[in-house]
Amino acid sequence: MEMGLKLLMLKLLVLVVVLCSWVSSCTASVSYDSKAIVINGQRRILISGSIHYPRSTPEMWPDLIQKAKEGGLDVIQTYVFWNGHEPQPGKYYFEGRFDLVNFIKLVKQAGLYVHLRIGPYACAEWNFGGFPVWLKYVPGISFRTDNGPFKAAMQKFTMKIVNMMKAERLYESQGGPIILSQIENEYGPMEYELGAPGQAYAKWAAQMAVGLGTGVPWVMCKQDDAPDPIINTCNGFYCDYFSPNKAYKPKMWTEAWTGWYTAFAGAVPYRPAEDLAFSVARFIQKGGSFINYYMYHGGTNFGRTSGGPFIATSYDYDAPLDEYGLLRQPKWGHLKDLHRAIKLCEPALVSGDPTVFSLGNNQEAHVFKTKFGACAAFLTNHDSKSFAKVSFANLHYNLPPWSISILPDCKNTVYNTARVGAQSAQMKMIPAVYGIGFSWQSFNEEPASYNDNSFTTARLLEQINTTWDMSDYLWYMTDVKIDPYEGFLKSGNYPVLTVLSAGHALHVFINGQLSGTAYGSLEDPRLTFNQGVNLRAGVNTIALLSIAVGLPNVGPHFETWNAGVLGPVSLNGLNEGRRDLSWQKWTYKIGLKGEALSLHSLSGSSSVEWAQGSFVAQKQPLTWYKTAFNAPVGTEPLALDMNTMGKGNVWINGKSIGRYWPGYKATGSCSACNYAGWFYEKKCLSNCGEASQRWYHVPRSWLYPMGNLLVVFEEWGGNPYGIALVKRQVGSVCADIFEWQPTLVNWQLQASGKVNRPLRPKAHLSCSPGQKISSIKFASFGTPEGVCGSFRQGSCHAFHSYDIFEKYCIGQQSCSVPVVPEAFGGDPCPSVMKKLSVEVICS
Ligand code: GAL
Repeated sequence: MEMGLKLLMLKLLVLVVVLCSWVSSCTASVSYDSKAIVINGQRRILISGSIHYPRSTPEMWPDLIQKAKEGGLDVIQTYVFWNGHEPQPGKYYFEGRFDLVNFIKLVKQAGLYVHLRIGPYACAEWNFGGFPVWLKYVPGISFRTDNGPFKAAMQKFTMKIVNMMKAERLYESQGGPIILSQIENEYGPMEYELGAPGQAYAKWAAQMAVGLGTGVPWVMCKQDDAPDPIINTCNGFYCDYFSPNKAYKPKMWTEAWTGWYTAFAGAVPYRPAEDLAFSVARFIQKGGSFINYYMYHGGTNFGRTSGGPFIATSYDYDAPLDEYGLLRQPKWGHLKDLHRAIKLCEPALVSGDPTVFSLGNNQEAHVFKTKFGACAAFLTNHDSKSFAKVSFANLHYNLPPWSISILPDCKNTVYNTARVGAQSAQMKMIPAVYGIGFSWQSFNEEPASYNDNSFTTARLLEQINTTWDMSDYLWYMTDVKIDPYEGFLKSGNYPVLTVLSAGHALHVFINGQLSGTAYGSLEDPRLTFNQGVNLRAGVNTIALLSIAVGLPNVGPHFETWNAGVLGPVSLNGLNEGRRDLSWQKWTYKIGLKGEALSLHSLSGSSSVEWAQGSFVAQKQPLTWYKTAFNAPVGTEPLALDMNTMGKGNVWINGKSIGRYWPGYKATGSCSACNYAGWFYEKKCLSNCGEASQRWYHVPRSWLYPMGNLLVVFEEWGGNPYGIALVKRQVGSVCADIFEWQPTLVNWQLQASGKVNRPLRPKAHLSCSPGQKISSIKFASFGTPEGVCGSFRQGSCHAFHSYDIFEKYCIGQQSCSVPVVPEAFGGDPCPSVMKKLSVEVICS
């Protein structure tokens, strides 16, 4: 080779090496460019979904992952939950629901990728945002800022996880499934608040992460100044407006919120599938190439893992897979159809930036082309009220309000975000065993007393500093001497006890009797108890049971958050006027007697004498209940109906199902909700006036065939005979389909040349395996109104709407019916746009 040429090649090589080390590693199999994440040299449109491994059981994981795959996902995203993995400093736990390596290997087996959000701050409505509570007590610590002790602990845990992944060869660069990692979580807004130390910390976190050499890119979400090579990404209900901080980074959406979390006392949020699909299509048409659904399966906050405070035990999130792992329809199916439509456009989408044309005031076309002539178009109608008739490339298209049509060949619509082709399902909870209720035994948890294992100070103590979060419960006890000449003893106007607490719930016992209860809420965890109390002449004991309901998971300065009775505590209406009790002698007891005895476990529960038969306590506060039961036959997911209970905890075979609180009713406005228009977390709510959470998931794998131990601890007083084991099933399924509604299947038939005429859509109805369609609840071809569960006839209705379903569907597990007038005995109203609405019962 000539010297000149050699020199040129050498120069080129140096250039490539410099560029590679700057943007990302070219030798690694995962890198990125301005358009997309690049895997093995290929730009990819990646659809991802969050499944947090400890929010389900290892036995559920394969099925959840499989359903995610069938739903069209390429990637599973999860946080890593530090406090689950390091419950005590240096003592690690990676078993059971916390077996991270097993979870990742299962994702790999299914042929999907992993996005590992190491954090180690998670947020996630998880207790203390994922931080171990012991971290608070590391001397000199200040969380999530430029602080030596914090950075040392964070680096140690991050390295622990990265090294573990490397040792198991789980990074894509090693042949594993992990294609992306995340450091920190939504730190941008915090950094803004903290200023210079925040900036220094963000930079340090980025460098520390990149220095670990995982061979795959790192992201930082909501971090506008994420330093190279880290990609800054967007979280939110919509992210189409977002651009990364450098032109050579891809546009990524790490949290597309599929719904929202439920808090005790809150109504249950849901997000219509049409709007979720619209937000995703918007993101793609604006050049986005990575979308992660947060959550794809939300699952359950078992044990004491929920954050908040006041986050409910269910973390269902209105996700495409419901809390129990069943398909949430039509959301799951509508997104599956969307993913298929998007994937048909993939070659055009990754080729370059779209050309945008206006099609009207609120209408646009986004057109992607490859140099080989492929073309894909997205037609949008942003108008949330009106249909739009648009013309694009000399053809006419009808766009429903707030919707996007996808045309993988720039000609035929295969999908519109507001036209749901997938079936809807109404779920039901039915008794798992008929006729037999639980036969309970009870044990009375006496209010704490001075001779318990307790300690004394002359002031009020902060709760978390006292319990270290080893228990939700902390007793505060003090004595009050009442002079026999106190006026109230005669008048009967009891003095008022005022207790100010930083949260989260409080029961007040006077001389062993429950005198009242107060609690805060997600919006304000603080509470004030202010009530007349029945005191007698002589010495009275005031025992305050302060209860934590999950530690906060978001906000600055984790190390400074408080809970418990901080005071003042005072009595008003005595002869002397007001007596301040805050600075007198207080005696403390951490946790419940039943906790110390492990009454929830098989061995512990036999350590005390339980009341039986007619002696079983009812409507009595601080009561433990236990019973034994056999596992119901079948495979349907199980739950406990706790609606007749107040507040407490429930365990099965020693494992905690979580906190229950059906006594706290959901407030909010649950009026009808239209999919069209901007979504926000309070827009669409259900359950108003009812328990925020009535049913509590019982994982099948926690049960033995016989003799399962169910233990309940009730704080308020409830009726245990109302507790029931139920199974979750599909109750009915619906289809709601317009004539001429585009479908991908029809387009494929036409594109393959097999059919050369316009095709009608079909209504597909399918009960769960093992079920059959037993009756037709509703069917109307014409202009029916309403939604699945409450369809009604409109002004136009084909009289033979039911016949075809009666004939072809009854007795079948599934059936399909074409949406053509002939199927229903002819066109009931020519020249009107018609649709078919049908609901069939599954049993
Ligand atoms: C995000 C956060 C998530 C989760 C979500 C709300 O801001 O990153 O971890 O908390 O909000 O569900």
